[in-house]
Amino acid sequence: MLTKKPKTKILVDGGDPQETLRVKRTIGFVDGQTTNPGLIAKNPEIQQRIASGRSLSAQEEKDEYKTIVQAISPLVGDAGVSIEVFADIGTTAEEMLTQGEEMFSWIPNAYIKYPCTREGLRAAEMSVPRQIRVNITLCFSQDQAAAVYAATKGSKEPVYVSPFIGRLDDHGEDGIEVIKNIKKMYRNGDGHVHILAASIRHVDHLLASFAAGVELTTVPAKVLVEWAAKAFPMPDQDFSYKAVSVSGEPLRAIPYKELDLNLPWQSFDIAHELTNAGIQKFVADYRSTLRRSA
Ligand code: E4P
Repeated sequence: MLTKKPKTKILVDGGDPQETLRVKRTIGFVDGQTTNPGLIAKNPEIQQRIASGRSLSAQEEKDEYKTIVQAISPLVGDAGVSIEVFADIGTTAEEMLTQGEEMFSWIPNAYIKYPCTREGLRAAEMSVPRQIRVNITLCFSQDQAAAVYAATKGSKEPVYVSPFIGRLDDHGEDGIEVIKNIKKMYRNGDGHVHILAASIRHVDHLLASFAAGVELTTVPAKVLVEWAAKAFPMPDQDFSYKAVSVSGEPLRAIPYKELDLNLPWQSFDIAHELTNAGIQKFVADYRSTLRRSA
């Protein structure tokens, strides 16, 4: 078990309460959890229902998601459980907000995940005065993180922004550089947005996230078990991160941009092909697993 808790909060990236419990036993604590539609579809009980030939109605899917997060909720610490709205490219902010309001009532420690799109940010902007805690997911750029900051100004609760490291790496760009750039940019802000490093693929990503000083990181159980098996290494002052892809190719560096966090969120260039691809992937994974038609 881990003897000294890292400064960065550790969340489990998954959709199975039993797995969360196993991680908790292995490392001694779990600060929080992130879920997404794809991860929920992989939940063993849902998989069993599917294997028995039963497809789920939209209401049953929602009920299952609720049951799963209600089981996870008491297992985790103060970083809460992130629940993602079902959104495709055409979902409006109002539709996301309606879902977000309902999901927020499921558990006392919910964070609602909205995608980092115009509609997702509008939903987040409307959520803040309603005191709905938010986590803006599928973030791939410093501009998007600036827009998250500007759209959620005034939030009494910490807002999470989730940059996806692994998917940037898959795209040939250095995901760790993006979180470092966002961290540097937020030094000029009021601290209301916390960086939640996501899409962690291996222990080096985890260590580099610690070294970058992010407030939170969400990690698949497999990577946490690997970290435990290595006796919980932590980055020291000699730690250096090797920016290479899983196949060993060097990753492109992403330069820092000077951005003014006081500008309106609509003024930032939030378009990113990986955000759209991510929305489509969540919808496709979920529908194909649960055998729903579009
Ligand atoms: C967390 O909120 C994300 O949904 C997750 O980290 C995505 O990871 P992936 O890129 O491995 O799917």
